[in-house]
Amino acid sequence: MSVRFGPAGRLRGQLRPPPDKSISHRAALLAAMHGEPVRVRNYLDAADTNATLAALTALGVIIQSHPDELLVRGPGLRGAAQPLSTIDVGNSGTLIRLLPGWLGAQDGLRFTLDGDASIRRRPIDRIAAPLALMGAHVDATEGRFAPFTISGARLRGVEYELPVASAQVKSCVLIAGLAADGTTTVIEPLPTRDHTERMLRRAGAAVRHQGPRISVDCVDELSLESIDVPGDLSSAAFVITAAVLVRGSRLVVQDVGVNRTRTGYLEILRRMGAIVEGELEPPAQGDAQESEEPVAELDVAYGPLIGTEVSPAEVPLAIDELPLVALAGCFAEGQTIVRGAGELRLKESDRIAAVVQSLRGLGGDIEEITDGFVVHGQADGLRGGTLDSGGDHRLAMLGAVAGLASREGVEVVGMGAAAVSYPGFADDVERLAA
Ligand code: S3P
Repeated sequence: MSVRFGPAGRLRGQLRPPPDKSISHRAALLAAMHGEPVRVRNYLDAADTNATLAALTALGVIIQSHPDELLVRGPGLRGAAQPLSTIDVGNSGTLIRLLPGWLGAQDGLRFTLDGDASIRRRPIDRIAAPLALMGAHVDATEGRFAPFTISGARLRGVEYELPVASAQVKSCVLIAGLAADGTTTVIEPLPTRDHTERMLRRAGAAVRHQGPRISVDCVDELSLESIDVPGDLSSAAFVITAAVLVRGSRLVVQDVGVNRTRTGYLEILRRMGAIVEGELEPPAQGDAQESEEPVAELDVAYGPLIGTEVSPAEVPLAIDELPLVALAGCFAEGQTIVRGAGELRLKESDRIAAVVQSLRGLGGDIEEITDGFVVHGQADGLRGGTLDSGGDHRLAMLGAVAGLASREGVEVVGMGAAAVSYPGFADDVERLAA
């Protein structure tokens, strides 16, 4: 599917972004790990999170869909059923990395997981290594790719230092730790999104955060009646960027999650001079032990930008928005540099190569470096042209926003990929630009 975007007149109005993808995956999975029914309100209806519901159903979880909520009846921490066939995660890296944390604790059962072509090039040795230390066995294609099988076992707690800053790997180990003997500790090289920790605290698990260490003890059961999913800042970020880049725009974003481990992009935009008003979650005082997800309203307006440098420590806090930093950099005065973002090469596509190639094709002055990119802003922004998403949802939406802000517009090939995280994206943009 190919769709043409822009150049747009100003964007005006209010946006209620789709429910958060990361939190939706966690809500469904942790609800399934409860022995009692859990209500999940505002669950994301998109390809990635629907893959999670299908996977859980194959594992014996009963999921009823009501107009505003899901009712999830799971078998508890150790009661997953043996599925009849391979579990298909579709395009979802979060599903393929988090679900094995639960599966590894299903003593005596064996599961096979696979996904689409993008999933088959994304490494899973990063979860196989800690799960093996805990006692589960993972047998992966070439030792590190899907399809792979995981054999559940009686797990033991470990202390595991993450080789890369990854919320997915951290979450996998903490989830496995719930059913592992003793205490499980993960040590993070840099802080990453902490939705799993917050949700587990709400479910009664004693998750302790001390410096770079996050620990959880074995529990008999989780206990939580309901989970509310806030709006997804990563999805909103595309529309926010359009409002920042298109002259005369003014946008109010409602009910969006502003967990401090997710707001890195807003801090970067503000540093570039963008007008983004709203109360973000303040920095933690000491070791934060939060259990709630903060929500805010943001007020965004068009304005001129200046280039900035994104440090490696900021990268995990803005990981999915870094393609948008590159786009904003094309419209900013001076240079914008992102370093320490080698992980971008392992996302739904190689997002360093894909972003650089795509924006160059639209007239941007941008170079690839091993772990990031360097952008030279141009006074007249981007010309426009054609951008192929290559099946990557965030690339598709990047192309659309580039089109709205460009001089000649952008034809996005593969726009259908947006359905992975934000099925209503094109409609929302059309409404705001009308
Ligand atoms: C996610 C964590 C991030 C992010 C991904 C979703 C999550 O990946 O890029 O889109 O839900 O935990 P890593 O932190 O594993 O790099």
